Parts: sequence; C-alpha cells; structure tokens
Amino acid sequence: MKALLTTGGHGTRLRPLTHTLNKHLIPIANKPIIHYALEYLAESGINEVGVVTKDEGLDIKEALGSGEQWGLNLTYIPQTSPRGLADVVKISEDFIGDSPFVFYLGDNIVVGGIKRFLDAFKKSESNCHLVLSKVKEPQRFGVPEIRGDEIVCIEEKPDKPKSDFAVTGIYFYDKSIFEAVNSIKPSSRGELEISDAHQYLLDNGKKVTYSEITGWWKDTGKPEDLLEANRLVLDKMTEDEILGDVSSDSEVVGTVKIGKNTIIKNSRIRGPVIIGEGCKIEKSFIGPYTSIHDGTSIYKSALEFSIILRNCNISNVRQRMDGSIIGDSVEIVRRTERPLTNRFMIADHSRVEIV
Ligand code: G1P
Repeated sequence: MKALLTTGGHGTRLRPLTHTLNKHLIPIANKPIIHYALEYLAESGINEVGVVTKDEGLDIKEALGSGEQWGLNLTYIPQTSPRGLADVVKISEDFIGDSPFVFYLGDNIVVGGIKRFLDAFKKSESNCHLVLSKVKEPQRFGVPEIRGDEIVCIEEKPDKPKSDFAVTGIYFYDKSIFEAVNSIKPSSRGELEISDAHQYLLDNGKKVTYSEITGWWKDTGKPEDLLEANRLVLDKMTEDEILGDVSSDSEVVGTVKIGKNTIIKNSRIRGPVIIGEGCKIEKSFIGPYTSIHDGTSIYKSALEFSIILRNCNISNVRQRMDGSIIGDSVEIVRRTERPLTNRFMIADHSRVEIV
C-alpha cells in the first residue's frame, strides 16, 4: 500500500495568508495542516508516500524533508501546471506502479485518521473506495448519487446535488484508476476532474464502494473552515501541558497547553487553548478555541476562537477579538498619539471588521 498526497493549489480563498504561506503549512492548533495527513498515513502503516508539489515545491520540501520524522519515506513529484486532481494521479503512475494506494488531499483533516477506511477498502476488494461525509453545501464538492447502498453516479460541484454527501479528499484505488485518468478529457474549466475519473470507473463496470465519516471532516479551503478545524482539534485535546511559567495571579482553566519559555502574567486563560513557545501574555484574557503560535505577545487584550501565528504583537485592544486569523509578525495596537484615529497598514486581500 502506497500513498499519494497533494500539497499544491493556489489557496485563493485563504488570502492574504497564502500570499506568503502554502495553505498546507498553515497551522491548526499550532501544527501545519499537512502534518495531520502525514500522521494519519503513518498510523495506517503506510510507508511509501508520493508528495505532489506545485512546481518544485521548495517550501513543502523544506518543511517535510525526507519524512523520517513520521517514519515515512517521501518522494517528491512536481506538477508543473495545475491540470486537476486526476492529472495528479496520472503523473504519479510511475511512482505508484501496481500497488493499491490512498490518494489524500493534503488540506483535509479528519478526526480519528484514515486506518478504518483503509481496512474497509481492503475488506471490500473494490477498485475504488470513496470516503463520504454529509455536508451542508454539497454543491461545493464532488457529489454521489446513491441508490440502495450503491453509488450510481458522481458529479463535480453540481448545481442540483443528488444527495447531501460530499466525496471527501480521501480516496483508495487499485491500478484501474490509471485507465480512468488516462481516458477522461478535461472539463469545461480545463482540468482533469477526479469526479470524472470516478464516473469512468462506474461506467466501465468497476467496483466503487464507500465509507461514511461519522465523526467530522474538514477541507480547509476557507477562513471559517480553518477556525472550525482549529476548534475541533482543540476540542479533542485531553491533556494539559504547562511548560511555560504561569504567575500565581493568573488563572488557567479547561484544557490548556503552554510551550517552553512562555510567560503568562496576571491573565485568564480559558481552554481549550494552545499557546506556543516564547510567548508573553500579560493582563489579558485568552478564551476557548484559540491557538497562539511561538513568539507572540499579548498585552491588555482579550481574544477567543482565533488563530494567531508567530511573532505577533497585540496590545491594548479593548474590544474582544473573536473569529480572527492573524498571520506572522502582525501588530494590532492601540494608538495613543493624537489624532486618535484608526490607522491601517494592511497588505493585499486583507479583511478588517471594526465596531
Ligand atoms: C476537490 C474535488 C472534490 C472533492 C473535494 C474534497 O475539490 O474536486 O470532488 O469533493 O476536493 O476536498 P476542490 O477542493 O479542489 O474544489
């Protein structure tokens, strides 16, 4: 069993973060999204992983290295232009060979990992095993039509979805998928669609089975998905880990992780919360479902349900921050010099909501 993992895409809906950071490297609970995928693969006993990158994928190579950290052997496969997910499979044929494999879209997070789906694929002896999840907006995804307990058709982002299931970014295949990806034609948006490859398998009498995710699954394409994934990962955190220094006039309740060399003074931390290394939190309130990455300082401010990246400075923000995603080295400070006006220094595609 091998694996193929995607790490490309433009991440347009996650700008401005993705102007400087590959979306797969955005941290959820202080850990890059792609690490979750690598952990799921390692837990499933898979060792050989093809990592498909946009062009040379230097950022991804630098972040993941040889894969040793997870006990994985990573082979990098560059995709030189974005020709669709079925093209990712197509260009990886030499790497996969005759082996069955899991095709995993690296921006998907699924609590509980993927081993149970791999077991279901093996048991089903099918050519293709899809993982489905009930969603509110199926028209954003590949959508199956199911009759009895069989998938009869799959459409990519249909206007009128034939079920309320999404085909998630977790697919198991045997080598028949290569016949499919080598036979289909580009869609109207000029891409080889993975849903068309699945439809090809159905049309050609191949066995397509499925599992349903009963817990939760997220494809982290939009800002609200990142916050939701962060909430769900923090919600699953069961053990405290206080490595930093919490002063006696501070109060820490709920599940909280605090990294080395972090100082918490005269503050209230209400978990689940994760705070990285070398942070300074003073006279502040950090509410549930917040992740604060290394080197960030928060002074006389209150925030919750937010993701704050590295080396930020948030100071004297009187109005509580909520549902916010803040990139590296951002400063949000109260202006004390006259004129007492709002001042912004914001780069392309940022969004500020003020009250
Ligand atoms: C892709 C697939 C779609 C699938 C989704 C899951 O869509 O084309 O069939 O449901 O991933 O994450 P994209 O996220 O590229 O729009």
